[in-house]
Amino acid sequence: MSELFSPTGGPRGLYIRTFGCQMNEYDSLRVQRLLAPLGYVPVSDICEADVIFLNTCSVREKAEQKVHSFIGSLRRLKKIKPHLKIIAGGCVAQQFGEKLLDRFDHLDIVLGTGGVSSIGQMLKRVEEKGGRLACMTGEENGVNDQSGGTEIFPRGSVTAPVTIMQGCNNYCTYCIVPYVRGPERSRPASEILEEVRSLESSGVREVLLLGQNVNSYGRGLAESSTFVDLLRRIRTETGIARIRFTTSHPKDLTDEMMQCFAEADILCKHLHLPVQSGSDRILARMNRGYTAAVYTEKIRKLRRICPQIALTSDIIVGFPGETEEDFKRTMDLLEEVRFDNLFSFRYSDRPKTSASAFPDKVRPETAANRLLALQSYQADVTLRKNLAEVGTERDVLAEGPSRASNGQMTGRTTHNRVVNFEAPLSTTGQIVGVKISFAYSHSLKGDVIVRSKAQPGRDL
Ligand code: 5AD
Ligand code: SF4
Repeated sequence: MSELFSPTGGPRGLYIRTFGCQMNEYDSLRVQRLLAPLGYVPVSDICEADVIFLNTCSVREKAEQKVHSFIGSLRRLKKIKPHLKIIAGGCVAQQFGEKLLDRFDHLDIVLGTGGVSSIGQMLKRVEEKGGRLACMTGEENGVNDQSGGTEIFPRGSVTAPVTIMQGCNNYCTYCIVPYVRGPERSRPASEILEEVRSLESSGVREVLLLGQNVNSYGRGLAESSTFVDLLRRIRTETGIARIRFTTSHPKDLTDEMMQCFAEADILCKHLHLPVQSGSDRILARMNRGYTAAVYTEKIRKLRRICPQIALTSDIIVGFPGETEEDFKRTMDLLEEVRFDNLFSFRYSDRPKTSASAFPDKVRPETAANRLLALQSYQADVTLRKNLAEVGTERDVLAEGPSRASNGQMTGRTTHNRVVNFEAPLSTTGQIVGVKISFAYSHSLKGDVIVRSKAQPGRDL
């Protein structure tokens, strides 16, 4: 039992706010798991919090600004509730370190990206001795402490992220990740398998393997393993029903990996493959290591191998030096590939990156207009693709009640489309057959069916 009790005597409320990517979602879950034995229970209302953990992102300027303004907005809450402890973790914490404490006098702890595993100790120290702390060192010489294998994953979750590697060596010229997250480090396969088995035994059916560049998984590991080896081992050595992964780098997408989509029944038929631009000139300036033709050829090959695969991507518009002609090439690539969905961003300067020193910046209004044009084009493609789903029968992993709290369940198809459907809560965790009846811009609706033919998925 913990010595830490809230002034009201009950368990302590832990409010977590995650900014940015899925890697951060994973770290937020770790924080939840690490603080649970100390008596902290997650709360969804920030006013009920005794501890607030902010998992921050600095990949894009906008994300970083949101973090700063959110921390600022907590000053009032801290005034009303002086015992409240506010902790900032993640990339902004790593980037600014102690400077964040100077800037925000109501912030109690700053934890660098390597410090997550020491959050309990730090909190205890501040609770008992007072004062404020910045912890910028820790586990990240290796990634062993990343293991959640022995920690308890919150029960009831049907899907769970699993970090398989950290950091990145690619140094795309716009990207801050190699500077804040450090060089690429892979976790040993045995440790990942142990974590997947532990998740499976707590009821998880689908794992999302996370890394900045999962296709280069295994480099530098004592026990040699490629990403494909890892997928095969998860398939044969665990009973997990579905595997997803993100993110892949086009230059490292091998034929062997493509083949996995056709063979592995438990590998979801969805690939997120960030292209960033359709212009070779811009791709070279971004240091991406491929041309638009190489990218589209890989897509063609992948579609030959696995015709139904869903494809999503990331695009940056307004990269320094991007002309109308370069932007047109990006639009041409979108027209050629017709992605199922797209995440698109306006370029922003990030500290230390080489692109931030490029002289030929695009005017903000020009970049904003390009982003608008691109997003409205993609919205149309995404909706059309969703409409084409109407009438199809899909396997849906039931994740739980839909957020709309209309008595419906929600889940995802193998293609990563969200489907809402009428079904009892007891279907949570099952892969159910659903006939799609309606398409919206971000989701589908359908009716549960009794399946006539064998469908992929382990519980059939
Ligand atoms: N400006 C805009 N977008 C960026 N991204 C990364 N860095 C920047 C930047 N400086 C985008 C890329 C990447 C995604 C996670 O964020 O598209 O794939
Ligand atoms: Fe950033 Fe490029 Fe590494 Fe992705 S591959 S994390 S964009 S440096």
